[in-house]
Amino acid sequence: MTADFSRPSLESRYREAVDRLEVFGQSHILTFWDGLTEGQRENLLAQCRELPLELLQREITSWRIGQGSPRKSLGEIEPAHVVGRDVQDRAHYRAIGERMIRDGRVACFTVAGGQSTRLGWNGPKGTFPTTPLLGKSLFEVFAESIRAARLRWRGAIPWYVMTSPLNHAATEVYFREHDWFQLGRETVWFFPQGTLPSLSHDGKILLAAPDAIALNPDGHGGAVRALATSGSLAQMKREGVDTISYFQVDNPLVHAVDPLFLGLHMEHPESSAEISSKFVPKRSASEKVGVFCRRNQRTLVLEYSDLPADLAAATRSDGELLHGAGSIAIHALSRAFVEQLAMEGRGLPLHRALKKVPCLDLVSGLLVEPAQPNAVKMEAFIFDAVPIAGRSLVYETRREEEFAPIKNADGEDSAATSRTAQSERAARWLESCGVSVARSSATGACMATIELSPLTALDETELALRTDLPRVIAADAEIVL
Ligand code: UTP
Repeated sequence: MTADFSRPSLESRYREAVDRLEVFGQSHILTFWDGLTEGQRENLLAQCRELPLELLQREITSWRIGQGSPRKSLGEIEPAHVVGRDVQDRAHYRAIGERMIRDGRVACFTVAGGQSTRLGWNGPKGTFPTTPLLGKSLFEVFAESIRAARLRWRGAIPWYVMTSPLNHAATEVYFREHDWFQLGRETVWFFPQGTLPSLSHDGKILLAAPDAIALNPDGHGGAVRALATSGSLAQMKREGVDTISYFQVDNPLVHAVDPLFLGLHMEHPESSAEISSKFVPKRSASEKVGVFCRRNQRTLVLEYSDLPADLAAATRSDGELLHGAGSIAIHALSRAFVEQLAMEGRGLPLHRALKKVPCLDLVSGLLVEPAQPNAVKMEAFIFDAVPIAGRSLVYETRREEEFAPIKNADGEDSAATSRTAQSERAARWLESCGVSVARSSATGACMATIELSPLTALDETELALRTDLPRVIAADAEIVL
């Protein structure tokens, strides 16, 4: 091996790191330096180099300033202008969307870099078994949707998947093992999002190991920067893609490619074709989803934790929630808009959340598993792009048709509720095609378990074209179509 004389010695790079970290009050990161091997030292220095210390300092200063002062006023919040399901000219907008797909202008984009702490799944969330009978994974369901859409509308529809450094390798291995679900490996792109360090309550960077900073993915809003730095936006441009169909990894009911929504995004008068969103009416005032509102003539999403209880519970004269347009994290984005956001270099604003993060005790050097939230994680949210757009379309859809996320291990928004919703949607589509499905006379719930692949039908219209549907589905039947 030849020595690299052009590279400063480890010792001088260490000194440089100490000096820089001291300026920002973070030199404790190097507490265990003396006991590290040379490889571990290199590892730690590489992580220190990547730290956005100026940005962290700005954030920490802003929360310190915020701590003593009363809660920042939200300003004048009004209900969002929304486009209902009764939108006129549906066939016209759908035809526009179909043409966009056929012309190769649409890419799918899944954000799959989250940590799934609530679900507690040991692996990328996209690999979680999801369908009611065959237990296909979330990734497989989306892959089938995309394949079916390619066949139906004869468009290229590349698929971009944002991972995180924590699950990137496992995600790629999973796709390779499944032969990219017959999509063609050259049409599926993976890239990891950025990370930010977890901080103690007093703004100190936490360590996960003597040579490792405790890092967390920088939120789904990190997609803006990651799409740019990974070269994905440039690749889309080369491929002629100008519109991104964005969805989260946890919702198997999503219509990965929806021509009506794409057409509305592109041409509806309420849209500037920069970022459009789907919403469903909130289940209740306390449902934990963001809501679309308006402030200073701009549409925005307020996180549920930022919406004061009185505003969340306020009702209109017809008894419906005033701020009831719940965000389901499905968007259409123009590539040019994302390029512009990324070029401005500032990224989307960071939000703070208190979380439990295992970290090293700096005195004993032991790993502490906290019982209570001990750390501040910072994340950017994609919906903060909404108020940056000129006009932003907010389009209503039906929850039972498009939204059954898997967030929790049990209870609401769990695998069990999502499986039921998948089976119920299949039952409704079949009934619309004249199939008789056994339902409980007490609750109206479907009494069979039905799994319907997107490759069989992407919607009721396509299902109606099939000639091989059963005529009757009995209680307790298990049907895979
Ligand atoms: P959630 O907010 O549900 O977070 O993400 P999560 O990390 O999956 O789950 P918890 O909170 O740890 O239980 C919503 C969507 O955003 C993606 C997730 O993968 C999911 O599709 N996401 C979230 C990212 O891609 N990156 C992130 O940093 C955070």
